[in-house]
Amino acid sequence: MSREKLAIQGGRKAVPNLGPFPTKIGKDELLELLSLWQFMPQTAQKLRKLIESEPEVKGPHLFRYYNPQPSKVAAAEAAMRELIGTRYCLAVNSCTSALVASYRALGIGAGDEVIVPAYTFFATGATVASSNAIPVIVDIDDSLCLDPEQVKKAITKRTKAIVPVHMRGAPAQMDALLDLAGRKGIPIVEDVAQAAGGSFGGQRLGSLGTMGCFSFDYYKIIVSGEGGFVTTGDEWLYTRAQSWHDCAACWRPDRFAKERKEGELFCGENYRMSELEGAVALAQIRKTDALLAGYRRAKKQIKDAIERVPGLSFRRLTDEAGDTGICLVMFLPTADQTRLALEAMQAEGVPAGGIYDSKIRDWHVYHYWEHILDRKAVARDGLPWSAVPAAELPQYARDMCPRTLDLLSRAILLDIHGEYSPQDCAAIALGINKVLRTILK
Ligand SMILES: Cc1ncc(COP(=O)(O)O)c(C=O)c1O
Repeated sequence: MSREKLAIQGGRKAVPNLGPFPTKIGKDELLELLSLWQFMPQTAQKLRKLIESEPEVKGPHLFRYYNPQPSKVAAAEAAMRELIGTRYCLAVNSCTSALVASYRALGIGAGDEVIVPAYTFFATGATVASSNAIPVIVDIDDSLCLDPEQVKKAITKRTKAIVPVHMRGAPAQMDALLDLAGRKGIPIVEDVAQAAGGSFGGQRLGSLGTMGCFSFDYYKIIVSGEGGFVTTGDEWLYTRAQSWHDCAACWRPDRFAKERKEGELFCGENYRMSELEGAVALAQIRKTDALLAGYRRAKKQIKDAIERVPGLSFRRLTDEAGDTGICLVMFLPTADQTRLALEAMQAEGVPAGGIYDSKIRDWHVYHYWEHILDRKAVARDGLPWSAVPAAELPQYARDMCPRTLDLLSRAILLDIHGEYSPQDCAAIALGINKVLRTILK
């Protein structure tokens, strides 16, 4: 049998050029996506026909890395860097993931403590526990955010981060918190899930602390269905957050290089954002300031028109110019008056709601965080609670933050829509005034 010359020696290749093959994602997937948009039936039909008539179409590469096209996720990160004003930004698949990636980047783990407010979505504290650390729950004040005086009292030798949450669209008291954290050498992780685009002292939220965490889930100011971002000015923390977010794959400048410095390589999880969310997030980030202008206009009109009836007070704004305007919070003198006022406002058609009502298990109020309060563990190792001698664990109780419960039980929350017309705003203010005049007479 004659031997054929090997290709390596200049012979003919055994395997000709393979492909091109159709892309994995094509017209069928595009049509499914389009069906999510509620076009008029004639338009939907036209679009379907047009797409189906294309002989061949190259679909997208929905993985952000190794992408032959410019990545939408990378573009969204660049847009967030520009918007928030930080040197680094990492896209992830939720704010829950952003919080874990930040805590892990900071090296937080078993035996450490992290201070979180008593009023925040459960994820802020739950991610501390799922990172094997101990959440320390601290009272809020009338800004509805962390009370810096209470934070000071809660700091121990184990405290490894303070997490101010800019609740309901308005900034926490960042000057006092930054001052305290700076003096103690403790990093601040801002939870900006509910306040994207807001600012404090002219600086965007998410750029004041060591790290910032954003949510793009459907209920937030800017959304991509699911999604989140980590912002930071620190390259090392960015590198570590990036490694954590991609199964330890480690997207450093050279991902195959050996560890350049201790702490660069470790095992992580997978929090990657796909190109689908990246594309939606990019379009949304570009709209942030226009959206905020709508909220702020409507909120100002409603707030200005509310009569200053004795007994009524408003949530304290730590920086009025930095408030996103997504909601208006008022306090009445007692919880009973608040309940009566809410019922009457709802009957008027005012879209107001309460925050803490013992009949509703609202996961934004620490009182209902039994996973933490009852020190539940996921595995037999008993972590995070088993890492600290029992006598040194925080003493959790359902009434441990009385100021938080008092404030929230007297709060009336009005969500604002940027699309409200001046007539809508006037009608809402009228409804509120009618009720307050009667209840607080
Ligand atoms: C203050 C706060 N932090 C974190 C989260 C978690 O965000 P995600 O749903 O993107 O995980 C939320 C979501 O409701 C939130 O409101």
